[in-house]
Amino acid sequence: GRPLVVAIDGPSGSGKSSVSKEVARRLRLAYLDTGAMYRAVAWDCLERGLDLSDGALVEAAARSLNLELSTSPATERVRVRGVDVTAAIREPRISASVSAVATNLGVRDELIRRQRAIIAAHGRRMVVEGRDITTVVARDAEVRLLLTASEEARMRRRGAQLGGTQNAEELHEQVVARDAKDSAVASFTQAADGVFTVDSSDLDFDQTVDAVLGVVHAAV
Ligand code: C5P
Repeated sequence: GRPLVVAIDGPSGSGKSSVSKEVARRLRLAYLDTGAMYRAVAWDCLERGLDLSDGALVEAAARSLNLELSTSPATERVRVRGVDVTAAIREPRISASVSAVATNLGVRDELIRRQRAIIAAHGRRMVVEGRDITTVVARDAEVRLLLTASEEARMRRRGAQLGGTQNAEELHEQVVARDAKDSAVASFTQAADGVFTVDSSDLDFDQTVDAVLGVVHAAV
């Protein structure tokens, strides 16, 4: 088919990953979770006991990282050096240290290069989600979209995702802290020129998927 890159950016808890996966399924496109790549680099650094404040060392780890990830929206699978880290990269210790890795410009340069290669290898038929996809990685995407949600809605979803086991105040602090660190990486709270916004605060999952599909169909 003809190229159709759907670039979706948004903060954590916006429902970005589950919505992006469902949109990929419905459009029969491949799917790339770029956040998983930053998480995999963080996992590798922690595993090897690297000092995250040593920028050159962290960059070198990213450049040489043996990373495989599935690009099917049906099966999420991430491997580092052959080790399945699909579950491990979602652990709180990774969420707490991933921003230190993501603010390293050498790491970003390497992962952006890999992301563009993955998109090309899929004939540019892919849903790609992250923080800087609409503005950097795939500025030339056929569809560019920012998925937002109020802070309240995002806390609610994050809490549900973690099984409601976490203290609300702690959760709030963690989400706000990661937002603050991530805002140094890319501006994902306001849509850049030519980027559509879907606010999911008052939408359920199906309604959000429909809103995104509506934007795709109107754009192509
Ligand atoms: O999307 P997710 O929350 O899994 O992303 C994990 C982290 O990876 C983010 O908090 C951010 O620091 C980083 N990230 C990034 N650029 C992207 C995707 C994720 O900096 N395109």
